[in-house]
Amino acid sequence: MIQWKSNYRIPSEETINESSSLIQDNTIDSDSTVIGLENLETYYSELSQPDLAEKEELEKKGEFSDIENNPHVKYIYDSILGTNLQAKGSIVNGFEADAPKVLVVDDNAASRMTAVALLAMEGYQVIEAESGATAVDLVNHKQPDLILLDVMMPEMDGFEVCQIIKQDEQTRLIPVIFITALNDRRSRIRGIEVGADDFLSKPFDRVELAARVKSLVHQKRLNEDLDHAEKVLFSIARAIESRDPNTGDHCERLVSLGQAFGEYLNLPRHQIRDLMWGGYLHDIGKVGIPDAVLLKQGKLTPHEWEIMRGHVLIGEKICQPLRSMRGVIPIIRHHHERWDGSGYPDALKGNEIPYLAQVFQIIDIYDALTSERPYKQAYAPIEALKVMQEETEKGWRNPELMRLFADFINYCESR
Ligand SMILES: [Fe+2]
Repeated sequence: MIQWKSNYRIPSEETINESSSLIQDNTIDSDSTVIGLENLETYYSELSQPDLAEKEELEKKGEFSDIENNPHVKYIYDSILGTNLQAKGSIVNGFEADAPKVLVVDDNAASRMTAVALLAMEGYQVIEAESGATAVDLVNHKQPDLILLDVMMPEMDGFEVCQIIKQDEQTRLIPVIFITALNDRRSRIRGIEVGADDFLSKPFDRVELAARVKSLVHQKRLNEDLDHAEKVLFSIARAIESRDPNTGDHCERLVSLGQAFGEYLNLPRHQIRDLMWGGYLHDIGKVGIPDAVLLKQGKLTPHEWEIMRGHVLIGEKICQPLRSMRGVIPIIRHHHERWDGSGYPDALKGNEIPYLAQVFQIIDIYDALTSERPYKQAYAPIEALKVMQEETEKGWRNPELMRLFADFINYCESR
């Protein structure tokens, strides 16, 4: 079910008049900057003749437009890449330095001690719990790298313990191996339902136990590194948003609008996730744009525009090391392309523009139009759609997608 509803409030008569004059005189770029049409034309015509003196001046001040030499971008890129490189090797990842911690949970002391002895022989730190409740407590306090969990225990059984662990954001990445009786099909199915990562049968085969534990601990550390890298990116994106006083909660709104429009279009789940992540990350490359350009009051010079336009390439470079960003990168790189090929960075035309980037651009512009900014009032949904329709007629957007978006907004506003 689509949950989105615009937060637009009907403005005063004076505001409507102001907005109307904006519609006639200006067009709005999805970087949230109102640009006069004339200015935009001037910009395109002058692109091939950069102002060299101005460029040299910026470079002297350390405000580089070259991605490779931009110190902010290089630092972030190296940090993310460093995390990944570490994740690829067990030695640099600390496997040798600190032995992985395994929690063995079993109410049967003899069985528990067998597992403890085998794991200790393999060099693991082992902690024990004789009940489900103790296990949950230890998981929270000791943060083990893996849990070996008996299914049948009095009071809280293994399924309940696993469910609690997998539902908690802090512990969900810890792999759980269920200890079941051989051929206990029902327990295995139930185990899969509550998020078990693997199964072992008693009596333990030492080689099998060692192999499974090693593989899952390794996988867990890889996941943790990726999880950490993603969190770093989202934090950077939030920091950039707070650096730009013009945008308010633009990213948050894009996330909910992206989810709602994605559902309306019946996009697959992973594409809806990419759209939502795009909401946070599309302008992450602005971290590499100097304050003198990003926060400049008034019109940007042609060279400053050139620098500003670099944010899409910087963003792509920052996110490239992460596999989980594969679906978001086309949004980051292409959210300023235009249907007629007049956009950037690649001047792609029509369906050469990745579909999610087309979808994202539409919601990005709609949100910029319907939000209040220091230099303009919020447009009413109908006014925003009118501006976007005019831009579509100029050839800037996919007409079919624009029609679907207008239907979507009208549907949301009519509820
Ligand atoms: Fe952008």
